[in-house]
Amino acid sequence: IWNHVPAGPPDPILGITEAFKADKDPRKINLGVGAYRDENGKPYVLPSVKAAEDRIYNAKADKEYLPITGLGELNKLAAKLAYGAESAPLLEGRIASTQSISGTGALRIGGAFLARHYPGVKTIYLPVPSWGNHTPLFRDSGLEVKGYRYLDKKTIGLDFAGLKEDLAAAPEKSIVLLHACAHNPTGVDPTPEQWAEISDIVKVSIQVSVSNARLFPFFDFAYQGFASGDTTRDAFALRYFVSQGHNIALAQSFAKNMGLYGERVGLFSVTTSSPEEKARVDSQIKILVRPLYSNPPLHGARIASTILADSLLSAQWEKEVKGMADRIISMRNELYNHLTHDLKTPGEWGHIKSQIGMFSFTGLTTPQAKALGEKAHIYMTSEGRISMAGLNSHNIKYFADSVDAAVRG
Ligand code: LMR
Repeated sequence: IWNHVPAGPPDPILGITEAFKADKDPRKINLGVGAYRDENGKPYVLPSVKAAEDRIYNAKADKEYLPITGLGELNKLAAKLAYGAESAPLLEGRIASTQSISGTGALRIGGAFLARHYPGVKTIYLPVPSWGNHTPLFRDSGLEVKGYRYLDKKTIGLDFAGLKEDLAAAPEKSIVLLHACAHNPTGVDPTPEQWAEISDIVKVSIQVSVSNARLFPFFDFAYQGFASGDTTRDAFALRYFVSQGHNIALAQSFAKNMGLYGERVGLFSVTTSSPEEKARVDSQIKILVRPLYSNPPLHGARIASTILADSLLSAQWEKEVKGMADRIISMRNELYNHLTHDLKTPGEWGHIKSQIGMFSFTGLTTPQAKALGEKAHIYMTSEGRISMAGLNSHNIKYFADSVDAAVRG
């Protein structure tokens, strides 16, 4: 009966891991998926995570179902981490939130909530380019998906004029997706001054009140701590918007910053105008979640909340996040030096150093990315995005030499 079902294409990101695993060449490098690797190219389980797991094991905790919206303790602690302890909506008890199946699940619940309850235009504007999963995810949630200019392909930097023009032209009451930090896939973030301008464009309208802002901002915050190594600094854009009175939606993930990839720990939250409104929104989030997956997984949530609840353990965790961010920054510098100084590879490579977070949008073309896979066993997305975390002092020279060869054709 499934004769009519056509074969679909492999996933543009996770499909790369499949191709990488099938490759038997010892020089192979996977720069596709954004998953941190240590200096020896191995997955890294953070010592703070191991310490939290020991505590959980020793507590001999049960395996009962979580409530529909997850571990209440985690919801509180994660909101504090993102919004900041002094945040007005947090202190006033008006943030509705639910634990989610990592960042993707948070975005999906958010998309479904907006599709069902958002009173404005059910169109979400994504930066061009954006994370490959954003478009199918929001489309499948029932929102219309459109784009706003983001990357200037010539400078491989921010097309700020284009961004402002497109957001100003978006129909009143549309939704805009903003990457809170470490934009995926480009690694190009607005400066604080530019964020302030974006906030004004999103807010300013013929209406006077901010709760009637022109656009509705939905922040994807998958990399808190991973951009600068400082979770507070990375929260600047989100906290600035909230301080300006915006109502916002937020997707958080602990995949990258706690290395809890397969544990699937994330949160969706939305600010509301009062505790009473929050309670109503919470009830509707439950009605969305229950028929989807009933309630979220327990183990990763316990890990994240054990870390965040303990000041010593969370200080240790912050150091470990910084360690990951710093190793990535040092790889950026090394790669830049190899290409620019040692190899004199044609082209301008300054963006490798200035980009932020896990990814670098190299500027390599789709044919060059394909050639690197076929000839050098180096895997990256077809748009030329590399996960900087896949590079280390053992493979970086081979990578730079291979890029040099691909660029020279
Ligand atoms: C990525 O962009 O590589 C990560 O966010 C992992 C994923 O699920 O795509």
